[in-house]
Amino acid sequence: MASERHPIAVIGTGYVGLVTGAGFAELGSEVWCVDVDADKIARLERGEIPIYEPGLAESVARNRDRLHFSTQLGPALEHARLLFVAVGTPPTYSGDADLSAVHAVVASMPESDRHALVMKSTVPVGTGSSIKRIFAEHGKGGFAYVSCPEFLKEGSALQDFLEPDRVVVGDDGNWAGDAVVELYQPLNTPVVRTDIASAEMVKLAANAFLATKISFINEIANVCEETGADVLEVARGMGLDQRIGQHFLKPGIGFGGSCFPKDVSALKQLAGNSGYHFQLLTAVIEVNELQKRRVVGKLQKHLGSLVGRRVALLGLAFKANTDDMREASSLVLSARLQGDGATVRAYDPVAEAEARKLMTGIEFADSALDAVEGADACILVTEWPEFRELDWNEVRARMAGNLLIDGRNFADRDEVTAAGFIYEGIGR
Ligand SMILES: NC(=O)c1ccc[n+]([C@@H]2O[C@H](COP(=O)([O-])OP(=O)(O)OC[C@H]3O[C@@H](n4cnc5c(N)ncnc54)[C@H](O)[C@@H]3O)[C@@H](O)[C@H]2O)c1
Repeated sequence: MASERHPIAVIGTGYVGLVTGAGFAELGSEVWCVDVDADKIARLERGEIPIYEPGLAESVARNRDRLHFSTQLGPALEHARLLFVAVGTPPTYSGDADLSAVHAVVASMPESDRHALVMKSTVPVGTGSSIKRIFAEHGKGGFAYVSCPEFLKEGSALQDFLEPDRVVVGDDGNWAGDAVVELYQPLNTPVVRTDIASAEMVKLAANAFLATKISFINEIANVCEETGADVLEVARGMGLDQRIGQHFLKPGIGFGGSCFPKDVSALKQLAGNSGYHFQLLTAVIEVNELQKRRVVGKLQKHLGSLVGRRVALLGLAFKANTDDMREASSLVLSARLQGDGATVRAYDPVAEAEARKLMTGIEFADSALDAVEGADACILVTEWPEFRELDWNEVRARMAGNLLIDGRNFADRDEVTAAGFIYEGIGR
């Protein structure tokens, strides 16, 4: 099978790039992975996986012979015609996407009529057309371009790559679009073949819609708190309607991560830059920001002033099964708590190293029980499975106080209250 598959290159070996490389290697392709981060490449060559993602280390090890890691583009260009781009597109201060890494990749491409850039990075609508213009202006008009946005979720990224709901391929009808469709053919998934701008918009619109669903259910949760309804019952009753669906109706302390906040903001700015005020997304963003801070109000309701209070955070990653701390709600929460004079002690099973790069002034604990020692209140921030196993009687015994804020409606409320806690969930 391997010899029949197109060899490919992946430029940028972060969450998306490494998973894409491993995924295509699983399907039998030789993959040349390129990154400007020499340390990351050296680790990958030694067989170390720089990120935490279930199943990824095993997949890379299993396909080690097909995966080639380098800081140099030369071997990738020599062996592969399709060059998947998976470099970061972080937000700028203006809320637009920062395309400098994408443009660095574009500038490093040689003149060629046998290669194509296949854009996996999430980019504003119009980026493909602008890159094609840049190629043409620099005598590289033979370089083909395909938009192939990625929809994987951190925490189940490799599985999502191998079992996608759909693959979106935007191109202008040349060999490269066909080649990308052929690469995905073994996955037996619906392919949405469209123009480049529409493919770019599918990605932004999909993320914006999911974020809207989260902010919507968070607002319903807030109204439930005022009116005595239980948002979990409400979400169940709503979600069984097939027009609505059950996914992303989980209230909590706001969405974070490297995608939703930046992609929602990028779509809002993109609309604004083209003269359209996207009012709905403005509200989605604002609701999310307020949601991260509502926890502080819940603490104050029971504790009064937070000055000198000890607060334990269980979980820091933006969601379970990842060490990604980008835009995690815990960042805003811990800063707010410290701003109000509280001492914060936190535990995360895998994200501590990443958290240490972004968080100041907090103490890091070695376990959940260590984190809650002497705490006046405990906040469940990330729904790590190991927190399900906690013995709440022991947690209560270690704490000075008895307040549990369940930021993910994750703990068993009856069990927790039986252990002597005051339980505060979200929307119930
Ligand atoms: N993380 C996700 O869950 C996810 C899901 C779907 C789409 N995306 C999108 O995919 C893109 C990548 O996201 P990520 O989370 O993998 O980012 P990341 O920061 O984890 O990885 C980006 C990698 O690109 C490398 N890089 C930067 N400039 C480079 C260059 N000129 N040449 C080669 N390598 C370079 C960096 O060193 C880094 O290793 C973003 O546009 C993101 O929005 C991310």
